[in-house]
Amino acid sequence: MEVNLVDQDYYARRGAPYDQFRWLRANAPVFWHEGDAERGWPGFWAVTRHEDVVHVSRHSDLFSSYRRLALFNELPDEQVELQRLMLLNQDPPEHTRRRSLVNRGFTPRVIGRLEEHIRDICRQLIDEAEQLPEVDFVRDVAAPLPLYVICELLGAPVEDREKIFEWSNRLVGSEDPEYAASPEEGQAAAMEVYAYADALAAARKEAGPRDDIVTRLLRPDDNGEVLGQDEFDLFVLLLIVAGNETTRNAASGGMLAMFENPAQWARLVADPSLAVRTADEIVRWVSPVNLFRRTATADTEIRGQKISEGDKVVVFYGSANRDEDVFDLPDVFDIARDPNPHIGFGGGGAHFCLGNHLAKLELKVLFEVLAERFPDIRQTGAATRLRSNFINGIKTLPVSLRP
Ligand code: HEM
Repeated sequence: MEVNLVDQDYYARRGAPYDQFRWLRANAPVFWHEGDAERGWPGFWAVTRHEDVVHVSRHSDLFSSYRRLALFNELPDEQVELQRLMLLNQDPPEHTRRRSLVNRGFTPRVIGRLEEHIRDICRQLIDEAEQLPEVDFVRDVAAPLPLYVICELLGAPVEDREKIFEWSNRLVGSEDPEYAASPEEGQAAAMEVYAYADALAAARKEAGPRDDIVTRLLRPDDNGEVLGQDEFDLFVLLLIVAGNETTRNAASGGMLAMFENPAQWARLVADPSLAVRTADEIVRWVSPVNLFRRTATADTEIRGQKISEGDKVVVFYGSANRDEDVFDLPDVFDIARDPNPHIGFGGGGAHFCLGNHLAKLELKVLFEVLAERFPDIRQTGAATRLRSNFINGIKTLPVSLRP
């Protein structure tokens, strides 16, 4: 089979290349994928089986995250240094300290307290959408939800939402021409976010502590360790980048999956207590983050395939989440799937998604509210997809909320 796992146009037309993934899992689970010297990205080992993605994710000593964010384009050194300050691009032990400082803001208990806030936000969005002559599920529901939740986490005033949304689009610098931002625009947006985060921290310090995540992050931990201002700024940037696109595309990909599988929607409407499992199945099914890249730190092997020090290794969550060795009927969208050991939030290593409890809560509440209020929601036009091999995204999804 001809393998091309990076063709952006394919992703824009059809979504992730599940037929290639299936073939690779069966025939070449650790596959050497050619790079493109002209466009400046190197070849890599494509890892497509669940067990192997978990192996790579859990061995950050062998598979480094340094230089990871630059998926296919090598960054100039000064940008690598800047990126390296961010959690996603760090390796233990540096990563461990920083992660433990932010973990305390994202425990299930802390996040659980947001449930009613999130429900209010969902209801507000839906009330507003109901007034519109035409509803685009992405623009009117799925995109604003995680944005408003992050603003809530940061204690950002309502009037700043638009600005934060615009930064998030520029920062992700998606390959899709409709959203594309030049590296300079991305850099400028990052600078604006840092200044914003500085102001946020200063305002919070002046106004005194509140029962919120920013206060918790700015306070020394039990060992007296505290996030530096730069660390705080970078973390705000990461929240904006990591929390928005992912959840937005999970919500819209989940809604599309319901339209394509009406019996599953009917099941949720009849039994909203399935919403917790639905959230997990949506993350498995959509795999909003399709891949991440690591760099081998030493000669090693994956499933008997020799990997040399310095080789790039790309793990495909979208493929691992359809692995027939792990999931019964992996190509069936089953909102009650149990067990569901998907790895849409990562393969369980040091970088396992910090926002996983939050994302699942947002999805659970959104689908509960939708099933309760709009049991007859239907799709009114074709969905369009994001031109990206990294984020499995939906750009537009026209819907009608009532018959
Ligand atoms: C890391 C997926 C939502 C914050 C990650 C990783 C994945 C992921 C695959 C990398 C895991 C690894 O390398 O092993 C998702 C998906 C989401 C989602 C599919 C939604 C459905 C969120 C939200 C937030 C968030 C809502 C924050 C508010 C982060 C952060 C990291 C991360 C900070 C980096 C953690 C680290 O490097 O230690 N996420 N994410 N994510 N995610 Fe999420």
